[in-house]
Amino acid sequence: MLIRRPPDIPTREITEESAYFGRREFLRAMGYGAGVVAASAAVPGALMACAPGQADPDDKLTPWEAVTGYNNYYEFGTAKDDPAKNAHTLKPRPWKVKVEGEVARAADYDLDDLLKPFTMQERVYRHRCVEAWSMVVPWFGFPLKDLIARLEPTSKTKFVEFTTLADTGQMPLIRRPILDWPYVEALRMDEAMHPLTLMVTGVYGKTLPNQNGAPLRLIIPWKYGFKGGKSIVRIRFLERQPRNTWNIAAPNEYGFYANVNPAVDHPRWSQKRERRIGELFRRETLPFNGYADQVASLYSGMDLRANF
Ligand code: MTE
Repeated sequence: MLIRRPPDIPTREITEESAYFGRREFLRAMGYGAGVVAASAAVPGALMACAPGQADPDDKLTPWEAVTGYNNYYEFGTAKDDPAKNAHTLKPRPWKVKVEGEVARAADYDLDDLLKPFTMQERVYRHRCVEAWSMVVPWFGFPLKDLIARLEPTSKTKFVEFTTLADTGQMPLIRRPILDWPYVEALRMDEAMHPLTLMVTGVYGKTLPNQNGAPLRLIIPWKYGFKGGKSIVRIRFLERQPRNTWNIAAPNEYGFYANVNPAVDHPRWSQKRERRIGELFRRETLPFNGYADQVASLYSGMDLRANF
């Protein structure tokens, strides 16, 4: 089946879905144990080096229909199928991103200018939501650390904050005070600079659908999905830890760190197990969502029960 061609992807960046899966099989056959599908955006089918710490190659990809039809994007409604039904009102181009705070290159950037220097990669990550469901998703993007390096934060920067779109014209439902809009998330600088932290512009080799956070979102695979703000319009470099939307909404349920931690129950449900979308039986939740080898050292010496 030929992949639908969104108007803003040049033809050369489009791959056939069969080729997409074929590449994954090829990598597996080549013995890429870390389980990577890494391909250049500009040269479809070209193989790049394996990036570390990605999902196991035996993790079955969650089908496109579930990745793009079972979503959390409260600006478009709170039911899982609301974003796919309602997010067509979002206009992902033209798109501006404001860079502010403790940073040398503070400015209002046109998104396409901001993205130009970066090579896109496909990375298959486990995606675990705090509501105890999970998916395996082939995201398409580039490491956040590369963007941060170009923006040149000052030595005072300790945190980076991401503010997402709140526009009643494109998001009529935000007239309802479900959350304290705009939706805001933040990372400590070492988390933001970790090579697994990804700025995402696509999924399954296609431009990111609106319901998944077009045109730009974050994915931090060892954290609950709520850390991954969608449709980012502002990046702010800060000396102090900011508050984040879910922490403001329910501080006893959602901490700043939001690391996937089966040992710490959510106040209303257990975090020990999860339902992988498409599977019959629940599976055990792994510490740091299975990425402990890569990221646990970021938190050494911290009480992860107090810093949940
Ligand atoms: N970003 C915005 N702007 N609004 C949201 O409601 N939901 C978060 C996160 N980013 C959310 C958001 C939550 S709770 C999750 S689990 C993930 O997006 C879901 O991402 P997905 O729908 O692509 O799986």
